[in-house]
Order: sequence, then structure tokens, then C-alpha cells
Amino acid sequence: MKVEDVKKICVMGAGLMGNGIAQVCAQAGYEVTMRDIEDRFVENGLNTIKKNLSRGVTKGKMTQEQMNQVVNRIKGTTDLKAAAFNADVVIEAIIENRDLKRKVFEELDEICKPECIFASNTSSISITDMASATKRPEKFIGMHFFNPVPVMRLVEIIKGYDTSEETYEFIDELSKKLGKETVLVNEAPGFAVNRLLLPFLLEAIFTLQEGVTTVEDLDKAISLGLNHPMGPLTLLDFVGLDTALFIADYMYSEFQDSKYRAPTLLRKMVRAGHFGRKSGKGFYDYTKKPPEPHQFR
Ligand SMILES: NC(=O)c1ccc[n+]([C@@H]2O[C@H](COP(=O)([O-])OP(=O)(O)OC[C@H]3O[C@@H](n4cnc5c(N)ncnc54)[C@H](O)[C@@H]3O)[C@@H](O)[C@H]2O)c1
Repeated sequence: MKVEDVKKICVMGAGLMGNGIAQVCAQAGYEVTMRDIEDRFVENGLNTIKKNLSRGVTKGKMTQEQMNQVVNRIKGTTDLKAAAFNADVVIEAIIENRDLKRKVFEELDEICKPECIFASNTSSISITDMASATKRPEKFIGMHFFNPVPVMRLVEIIKGYDTSEETYEFIDELSKKLGKETVLVNEAPGFAVNRLLLPFLLEAIFTLQEGVTTVEDLDKAISLGLNHPMGPLTLLDFVGLDTALFIADYMYSEFQDSKYRAPTLLRKMVRAGHFGRKSGKGFYDYTKKPPEPHQFR
């Protein structure tokens, strides 16, 4: 499979990452199917894409006509077979759960044509492990985008044990076609970025949990003191606390290292359904006036 032959990309998941990935693929001219498990999730994903693109039209970055063309290239569905049929590439962005991802790839392996490339947007889970659920481990790779996908420029590419050089070169070229910069990292839980980021984010929650400072002051301290574009608690609300907990638990189980241990406060907030921006409440309350990430700078 060559990148110039790619016509259809299937994106699994219409959440934060899935709809962003679908948008950049459609903007690059590909026909996209975006699959989620319920109509309301598909609708939410499509609406987010339209809202993002409309902002681009208002700012003069694209015309209404161009926006309509991008939107028309994306088909949302809950039908797995229809979504995956004849896809040249699948990019998986469902929840960060190892067993579920393996199950979905096993199903996709039966539906997709043999030359279809499988890429996972997992934040931490072993590519080799997921690839072993399929009969095409050489065509399986990690393609780790960052949130928000249309804005963030990096894709971390992760080779599994059996990923072929051809598959790596293909995904490297495709990522560049999507307007991204790439880095190649060897497989390890959390790859490169999250291996460094997670202990920092978890420590921010421990700092809060121990009453060292307040939510606002911790974010202000890191934004202004370290010149970060946003504080760690604002960032956690963006990432999704449920996703952060999935990643922490996975990395802790893999490394057996306390630097990836999830604070009780994080677990409690997730149990209470406070996932951050996507659920309306996290460290901040988005049902009231949402704080802007640049508020401290
Ligand atoms: N949030 C981030 O900042 C971020 C960044 C990089 C990578 N990731 C990774 O991207 C993936 C998705 O994260 P997210 O933040 O978009 O989560 P999310 O919760 O916003 O979206 C996940 C979506 O997957 C859907 N889903 C669950 N089972 C499915 C199935 N069988 N088929 C299709 N869809 C299914 C859910 O209904 C949900 O809409 C995770 O692996 C996560 O680790 C997240």
C-alpha cells in the first residue's frame, strides 16, 4: 500500500481524539468514516468538527464552500462493517482499554481488506500486544496524535515488535500529508511524551490533594513560573481525567514504579463522573464560565 493510493480512512471513536483525527484526514482530502458505538456520540463528534471548521471560516482560514467539502467527506456511523469496509487505513481512537482495543482490532481484522494498515492512537498501551490480536502484526503501528488534533503538530510513531519498515514509512508519509511532524519512538509504556508528562500531571494532583496550594494557584504557578501554555490541572481537564487514570493505571501495571501511581483524588473524581471539559466538571467547572487556558499569561 502506497500513501498516494489511499482513498478511505476509517476512524474508530468519535470522542475528543477521534473527531479531531477524522477532521484532519478529511481536510487532507481523504474520504473518512468515523465510527462510535452510539448515535449520540457520533452526532457529538460531527458537531464538534463542524464547530471547529466554522471557527476557521469566521477567521478567514477557509471558505464556507471548502468547509462544506470537508464535512461532506466525513460519514459518521455506528455500523462497524460499513465503517471499515474497503478502508485503506484504520486509525483507532476508542477508550484507553487494552482488552477492548484488542477485541475491536480482532473484529476489524476479519472485516478489513488484507492490505489495510492498522494504526492505534493509544497513549500508552503496547502496540505489540494489540497487534498480536490480529493476523497482520507487520501492518500494525502506533500513531499517537495530541489534543487538540487539528492544532497540535506532533505525531509520535511507535513500531511494535513485528511492524515492518514499509508500514513505518507509510505512516510517516501519511502523517506528513496530514500536516504533522513525526518522531519515531521504540515501544515502551507511555512511549516518550507520556512517560515524562504523566508523573508531572500526577504530582500536580498529589500537590493539590495534600493541600499545598489551590487549583488556580497551582496552574498559575506552573503557567507563569515555567512558562507553560496552561497549568497541569487545566491540561488534565483537557485530556480527560478518565483517560489520564487509564494511562496511569496501565503504566503503573507495566513499570511497577510508584511514579505512575494514581492519586486517590483522581480515582474519586473519575468515579464521580467528573472527567474534565468533556463532562462539564473536572478541576474547574465548565457549566459556569470556563477558564481560558491562557488566563494566567
Ligand atoms: N485525550 C487526550 O488528550 C489523548 C491524547 C492522545 C491520545 N489519546 C488516546 O486516544 C484514545 C481516545 O481518547 P479520547 O480522549 O478521544 O477519549 P473519549 O472518551 O473522548 O472518546 C473515546 C470514544 O470511544 C468510543 N468507543 C468506545 N468503544 C468503542 C468501540 N468499540 N468502537 C468505537 N468507538 C468506541 C466512546 O464511545 C467514546 O466516544 C485513547 O486511547 C486515548 O488514550 C487521548
